Amino acid sequence: MSTRRNRTRRYLVKGGTALHGHVRVSGAKNQALAAMCASLLTDDYLVLENVPDISDVESLGELLETIGATVERLSPSTLRISGKGANVFEAPTELITENRASFQIMGPLLARHGFASSAPPGGDVIGQRPIDVHLSGFEAMGAAIGRDGERYVLTRACGERLHGARLFLDYPSVSGTQNVMMAAVLAEGSTTLVNAATEPEVQELARLLNLMGARISGIGTQILHIEGVPELHGATARIMPDRIEAGTWAIAAVMTGGDLEIEDAPSEVMDAVVNKLRATGALIEEREGGLRVAAQGTPRAVNFQALPYPGVATDLHAPLAALLTQAEGVSIVHERVFDNRMLYVGELRKLGAEIVSTSSSAVITGPTKLNGAHVRALDVRAGAAVLLAALVAKGHTVIDEIYHLDRGYERLDHKLRSLGVEIERS
Ligand code: EPU
Repeated sequence: MSTRRNRTRRYLVKGGTALHGHVRVSGAKNQALAAMCASLLTDDYLVLENVPDISDVESLGELLETIGATVERLSPSTLRISGKGANVFEAPTELITENRASFQIMGPLLARHGFASSAPPGGDVIGQRPIDVHLSGFEAMGAAIGRDGERYVLTRACGERLHGARLFLDYPSVSGTQNVMMAAVLAEGSTTLVNAATEPEVQELARLLNLMGARISGIGTQILHIEGVPELHGATARIMPDRIEAGTWAIAAVMTGGDLEIEDAPSEVMDAVVNKLRATGALIEEREGGLRVAAQGTPRAVNFQALPYPGVATDLHAPLAALLTQAEGVSIVHERVFDNRMLYVGELRKLGAEIVSTSSSAVITGPTKLNGAHVRALDVRAGAAVLLAALVAKGHTVIDEIYHLDRGYERLDHKLRSLGVEIERS
């Protein structure tokens, strides 16, 4: 695998097409990334199906190869990974900083090999994004946490396993829960994680680990019990469909006045966004294997707060805000997860949106006529928001820095073109 992130790429989008037809949701980015890190917990093969072809998967694959694992693409959406050759425990900074999920190699390396070193992870600039939950979890299980310049150096006593512990997570961090859980599955004795994240991606990782021989119970609750085992084995698993991509399509249907069949939309984990879209007046039907989402005239304003699961996902905050620029009335939006999620506001304003914001709240007045302009995708989800706005803006919109969108959405332009949108990538 090789990283092909080109920071100069842009989209040219012509607005005004209502989205009608059928679109299939790809595999979940954040579950795929965590599952790839889990491959380091065994020498056997881990085969992952329905992996999205996105640049975050590519750069994490490159990181795994750099530390000695083998990553093969058996088909466009199937990866076979073996952690057998992993023998470099100092992760290269340029790959660790490509995304946030990469730091989740630390738990597996520490638990299995007793040593791991890494710079702080990268990812979207959507807040401070500390890693104290990860580090205090490792420490409670017997790891020593040192610093070498900016790098974190984790070690456990030679010849010993990490030991189980009862842990209270200061915040139900998604990747923190996953990292600590991956360390705990190979620890000696039992571990209890109190205030664990319950996001579907965390649940799926726990199920994958159990498939590999781990003993995790309480999956889906805020208290996880993990009985440590001496080793894990290989497995074959299918990555669940991406609830954030599905939510983005649902929003696009409502916003453009369209009617979409969203195949593979995981409606069982989409209650919050479905509920909000229904409150705007949209028709949403749960169907076998997906959702049908149809606009019913001008949407109505709604208020929402972005919260940990099962609340409205923070990753759908910006896309929902884009929709609310087209809703009748005043909507009030609060971000409760990250402290820098409002980057999309300035870009939507360039297109004509009426939004007043603080560092964590926005008041959106609609409906406003948007006009094509030159904007930037400032992070994955802020990028989705400007793209959605471009779909309803008059004329053409140029979206720069679409490498952010490439990190999280598979073949977005192809999918939009198949729904009749005029969109070019250059
Ligand atoms: N936090 C702490 N201490 C920690 C870790 C996090 O206080 O040690 C705080 C953060 O400051 C933040 C909150 O916890 O305010 C949530 O952060 P969390 O750790 O839960 O998020 P993450 O694991 O860094 C994952 C997804 C994000 C998604 C969030 C929340 C991955 C790779 N990323 O991030 O996805 O927004 O959970 O659901 O799994 C995206 O896909 O666009 C994306 C940003």
